[in-house]
Amino acid sequence: MRVPTGIPGLDELIEGGFEEGNITLVTGGTGTGKSTLCMQFIYNGITQYNEKGVYITTEENVLNIKRQSAKFNWNIEELEKDGSLRLIEMEPFDIDTISDRLSEVVEKMDAKRIVIDSVSMFEMYIHDPFKIRKTLFKILQRIREMNRVCIVTAEIPEDSKGLSREGVIEFMVDGVILLKYLGIAKYKRSLAIRKMRMTDHSSDIHPFEITQQGIEVYSV
Ligand SMILES: Nc1ncnc2c1ncn2[C@@H]1O[C@H](COP(=O)(O)OP(=O)(O)OP(=O)(O)O)[C@@H](O)[C@H]1O
Ligand SMILES: [Mg+2]
Repeated sequence: MRVPTGIPGLDELIEGGFEEGNITLVTGGTGTGKSTLCMQFIYNGITQYNEKGVYITTEENVLNIKRQSAKFNWNIEELEKDGSLRLIEMEPFDIDTISDRLSEVVEKMDAKRIVIDSVSMFEMYIHDPFKIRKTLFKILQRIREMNRVCIVTAEIPEDSKGLSREGVIEFMVDGVILLKYLGIAKYKRSLAIRKMRMTDHSSDIHPFEITQQGIEVYSV
């Protein structure tokens, strides 16, 4: 079954949405729109598809996320109050606590959509590459067991050619969406589906915009 993002222009590139049970990585440089895409996915899930959401933030604080969302006219405070959204700030120190807390919250409220924004913090806090792999694997494993639909974000450092800081997470997920900021031409932002298992996805580079309504992706 497909779970639509509800983001204008995106679902038609991926056979209607994310496959249930899958984990998708949204990756890109700073300011490319990763958090916006995630919140739009969660917000649309609740308001258009009646699917509850959990948003874990390891970087920005909850207050900033609320302020940014209000700019897009997404009243997430209201959704928090009625129990359809949980916004949780987590420090990337204790992976077991994070995993336990996440499953507890997701199961208790029966959330369908999960966001972890971002996993780069794990990559930065843990220095041993083997431990990074183990940590990411563990948390993704827990998410898979829950059989929901999940987006994780990662940040690509300015000078990097890879898809994430450590070059590990992209191999552990089912899909990768790459966002770029070009800063030139009519459209300054682009989106590409780098992989999407089980999906006949677009292989084009699509321009997109962030407007007052959030993200809108264009066909080419
Ligand atoms: N109301 C708005 N209208 C148009 N563009 C906006 C609006 N609000 C934010 N933006 C754009 O969105 C960008 C931030 O997007 P977002 O926070 O989703 O990116 P990110 O990839 O998560 O960045 P970070 O590296 O900080 O995590 C801003 O830099 C700005 O260009
Ligand atoms: Mg962000």
